[in-house]
Amino acid sequence: MEFKSKIKTIEWVDTYSKMVDQTVIPYEYKFVNITSGDEMFNAIRNMIVRGAPAIGIAGAHGVILYAQELEKQNLSRSEFVNKLIEKAEYMKTSRPTAVNLMWACQKQIEVIKNSNADIKGIIEELKQNGIKLENEDIEINKKIGDYGAEVVPEGATILTHCNAGALATVGYGTALGVVRSAYAKDNTIQVFADETRPRQQGSRITTFELAMDGIPVTLITDGMCSYFMKKGMIDMVVVGADRIAANGDTANKIGTYTVAIAAKYHNIPFYVAAPLSTIDISIKSGDEIPIEERSHEEVTHINGKPVCPLKGVNVINPGFDVTPHELITGIITEKGILRPDYNKSIREIFV
Ligand code: MRU
Repeated sequence: MEFKSKIKTIEWVDTYSKMVDQTVIPYEYKFVNITSGDEMFNAIRNMIVRGAPAIGIAGAHGVILYAQELEKQNLSRSEFVNKLIEKAEYMKTSRPTAVNLMWACQKQIEVIKNSNADIKGIIEELKQNGIKLENEDIEINKKIGDYGAEVVPEGATILTHCNAGALATVGYGTALGVVRSAYAKDNTIQVFADETRPRQQGSRITTFELAMDGIPVTLITDGMCSYFMKKGMIDMVVVGADRIAANGDTANKIGTYTVAIAAKYHNIPFYVAAPLSTIDISIKSGDEIPIEERSHEEVTHINGKPVCPLKGVNVINPGFDVTPHELITGIITEKGILRPDYNKSIREIFV
């Protein structure tokens, strides 16, 4: 039985990109239309759209939006192509850690470079490619889900961190894709969701989408995970990824590393679920992954209200951390589950 998820996070509609506004969940579930390239750049940077695969698709849509704007400037074909490639390169810089963003913008750059069409034709090819990437994302996540479901024990309680769900992708999700596929086979499984400070993707988004799909979910704060592991209440951990290095080191939302250490200590399997587009074989280890530093206000405030004195307190706010490969039991991809030695299994999957 296939699990039917109701959520479609982002889609190209004729001349604009329509997406769920993730900044207002769980108070509101509403869609916004993004109609210009700069608007898309800001939507990614300000996390109206977030999650590695979703921002990849958003980046690809952003390139189409820039193309539509440049078309109105009466440029020659070669001026159009050069300016558009510059804009696509700029779109890649809207957030630094999730490599899916660079990957998807690069896919659009390849369309531009390989096209023999006129300006209108290039724009049409970019739209077709954007829609293809959208559809592929859902198919890939279903495959990740099905491979992952094979390692979920009967009746398992699965801990996850941040949101690697339908709302972090076009639909279905990676880590939560594993949950959805496992739940379709065994409706006694359940999820423990870490709150995920500072932006609370776990409490705001993961619990929201699981409740929407009727999958049992329990919210805990970030510091509670080892308490429940020690009590024997967690059977496995599945998280998403923003970038995976060639040796398996994995960048994901800040706090993931802590969960991985706790899982290792308690002998609990720790899985990463991600599409191959999240693997960056150009970097040898996690030391080379750029870590986004975000606004201090995310730490000092909750819902616009200060949670600490605003004078005399230093703040630091890295958005991601890197879990070393030796803490990872397996990397669940659309081509199967990669196991250590990751240098070898990752290299083999890319040949
Ligand atoms: O800062 P965010 O909310 O974009 O971070 C998201 C995560 O860290 C996700 O776990 C990751 O992108 C995987 S999404 C399938």
